Amino acid sequence: MKIAVIGTGYVGLVTGACLADLGNEVTCVDVDREKVEALRRGEIPIYEAGLEELVRRNLAENRISFTTDLQEAVRAAEVVFITVGTPSAEGGEADLTFLKEAASQIALAMNGYKVVVNKSTVPVGSTRLVQRIIEEGAAGHPEFDVVSNPEFLREGSAVGDFMRPDRIVIGAEGQRAISMLTELYRPLNAPLVITDPASAEMIKYASNAFLATKVSFINAIANICEAVGADVREVVLGMGYDKRIGFEFLKPGPGFGGSCFPKDCRALVDIAGKAGYHFYLLEGVLEVNREQMELMVEKARRRLGELKGARIAVWGLTFKANTDDLRESPALAICGMLLREGASVAVYDPAGMKGAADLLPGAEFAPDPYAAASGADLLMLLTDWDEFKWLDFRRLKEEMAAPRIIDTRNCLDPLTLRRLGFDYQGVGR
Ligand SMILES: NC(=O)c1ccc[n+]([C@@H]2O[C@H](COP(=O)([O-])OP(=O)(O)OC[C@H]3O[C@@H](n4cnc5c(N)ncnc54)[C@H](O)[C@@H]3O)[C@@H](O)[C@H]2O)c1
Repeated sequence: MKIAVIGTGYVGLVTGACLADLGNEVTCVDVDREKVEALRRGEIPIYEAGLEELVRRNLAENRISFTTDLQEAVRAAEVVFITVGTPSAEGGEADLTFLKEAASQIALAMNGYKVVVNKSTVPVGSTRLVQRIIEEGAAGHPEFDVVSNPEFLREGSAVGDFMRPDRIVIGAEGQRAISMLTELYRPLNAPLVITDPASAEMIKYASNAFLATKVSFINAIANICEAVGADVREVVLGMGYDKRIGFEFLKPGPGFGGSCFPKDCRALVDIAGKAGYHFYLLEGVLEVNREQMELMVEKARRRLGELKGARIAVWGLTFKANTDDLRESPALAICGMLLREGASVAVYDPAGMKGAADLLPGAEFAPDPYAAASGADLLMLLTDWDEFKWLDFRRLKEEMAAPRIIDTRNCLDPLTLRRLGFDYQGVGR
């Protein structure tokens, strides 16, 4: 099929590259000229395993192209994906500025039947909103359908997640649109949930809110474990074998972050409130999350007595491993708090250093994990990059002024570290 993808961020670029790889003819559109130029050269602006290879292969085989000309891309397409950002607005609701702009532009290019597929995470009613904008903006009476098709990929494993999804949700009213999308996704051989647009939009928010709830729940349990002398890792082991519970998303840590969970939880609280339902549970999830980051700083304070004047090494800045995404990263929030309390902070991250330079004024950016730890009174591991697990901890001990580690991801081995003379503290154990 001929496809246009509007927005070449984490979701758009992965969607475009994967659909091209499945044999479609894909044009990816972005307003960011520099990004488009780089993509044309096969340079990927984000850190995402396997994506560069996929884009290059499909560029070479002329199945994918990049442009800033949205209207031309839409005119040539049968299926138009909208994958623009929907960040939090001030009151927590989703900011639909980019979505509305994309829809207005699509309207101007309508020249025959098209399926407009909204993949961005948007509040219930947005499918209808896009439909109205296109109807109002298009000349004549173009035939089209708007479909909600939320995306569930995870940064860090986005290509695999797109190609092997647990399910594909299609929220549509017209049979023609459903048939086209079913055909497009057929090679993925995934269960299809075909439903109405409102339910599809809600599925995405409910899924993210549920996963965030699991994270806050296990963080709360971890905090109780610490206080009563239980080990949360043992607790998770015992809970996770219960098939009704499972192991996924029961990893205690410094709190959830990223470009989706916090904003989607806030947006769902807002959606619920506007619909007359006070979503206390999800408000609590967000509150536990905020507190969890503060608790990590409190752990440091307890270890050091005072943060002012202390030298703290930080490993990890991205919101999780295997991505360069820093949006709402707990690590950034924690570094910010440490700096504000007067600590000097030296950071290292395998992929997030470039983006963090402007976000952490006053921090020192070290070229490697050992350099970050040099002369430090405390090391805080804030993101669970594999690279941190396999370092030379004897050397690390020599680099540090005092061998103290707070491992907020429980990814190091306490026994080994204690044997080497480290004062080790994890989360919930
Ligand atoms: N990042 C994820 O892991 C993820 C997963 C599932 C769903 N989502 C949802 O998908 C959506 C996109 O997320 P993302 O992380 O890919 O965002 P992003 O910010 O990385 O990318 C959005 C892109 O859209 C471009 N853009 C904005 N307006 C445009 C316009 N009018 N025309 C063309 N391009 C335009 C921007 O320049 C940017 O490159 C969001 O709603 C998000 O909640 C994200």
